[in-house]
Amino acid sequence: MAGKSLFFDGVPLSKSVQEMSVNGDEPPPEFHVKDTSLGGTDSSPLSSSLSDSVPVVDLSLLLSSKHELEKLRSALESGGCFQAIGHGMSSSFIDQVRGVAKQFFGLPQEEKMKYSRTANGVEGYGHDLVVSDKQVLDWNTRLFLRVFPENQRKLNLWPENPDSFREVLHEYSTKLKHMMDLLFKAMAKSLDLEENSFSGQFGDNPVMQVRFNFYPPCSKPDKVLGVKPHSDRSGVTVLLQDEEVKGLQVVKDGRWITVPVIPHALVVNLGDQMQIMSNGIFKSPVHRVVTNTDKLRISVAMFNEAEPEKEIGPVESLIDDNRPRLYRNVKNYASFNYECFQKGKVALEEVKFHA
Ligand code: OGA
Ligand code: NI
Repeated sequence: MAGKSLFFDGVPLSKSVQEMSVNGDEPPPEFHVKDTSLGGTDSSPLSSSLSDSVPVVDLSLLLSSKHELEKLRSALESGGCFQAIGHGMSSSFIDQVRGVAKQFFGLPQEEKMKYSRTANGVEGYGHDLVVSDKQVLDWNTRLFLRVFPENQRKLNLWPENPDSFREVLHEYSTKLKHMMDLLFKAMAKSLDLEENSFSGQFGDNPVMQVRFNFYPPCSKPDKVLGVKPHSDRSGVTVLLQDEEVKGLQVVKDGRWITVPVIPHALVVNLGDQMQIMSNGIFKSPVHRVVTNTDKLRISVAMFNEAEPEKEIGPVESLIDDNRPRLYRNVKNYASFNYECFQKGKVALEEVKFHA
């Protein structure tokens, strides 16, 4: 049936988003977003003038400048999102990461299909996992891979084309791991906590996963979303945006804010696990991706999360009479989050602590 398309459990049934995009097809109904307040595709006319709402933080100053640390804290308390500069990666390396992503998505479909997500698998190349026929599908294709712990890599799903793909991904992941470690320390310091209050909760073998996102143009961008509104289940997410095409929006003060493109900056947004560990002081922002009629957009999102068997919870010293415990302790938040999603529930609500 045309339209009931896509990789249902890894099997292509009809046309891919990319083919529909190339043909200029109208997005089929299963992609149509329902119009509810923040769930619709509209954005406030003010949104683009609020670029200050996504602060820029220089990571190279975090451990030496009180002012920069304060900027970090305030960004994470208000919107949970900032643009990181001074991250120590050269512009040419950042361009290389974008380059391999672009080359991979540019390969013929048969070549990309070699890395397809298998039935029931989460890693690999493909589309939304379809779990219900009421589900609204995202206008995107992605490649999802676990990069750490290193011995859990499924190398058969790591592209060998372009031939530098694996090496570049390994190097990028390693650099981001260090950057995340620095961030966790700085976040703890900004709240006057022991340096390892957050990093210690991730365990000895934290998980890191990457999602290469490909958003082709869409003839009816007002009907679909590249990614529906969600918060990340991670501890922290580092996003390399497209070098020129905007698309990411975050909710701030009840409005959608478009995150501006700063070519060699990295967008950092917190995920639910940090909101839990910080007892709600730091925010895991709701965000989404909008599409457009003429430009494709590629992004690379790196997520880290606690080792699944490790229990996470609010840092003790962030719980007091003025700020009672907001969340209970939880293990394996990733699968808990997935179960909630399947039941149409919001995981962060389900882990609220009730005395
Ligand atoms: C995600 C995400 C944003 C983007 O992959 O979770 O929110 O701009 N991506 O691709
Ligand atoms: Ni996200």
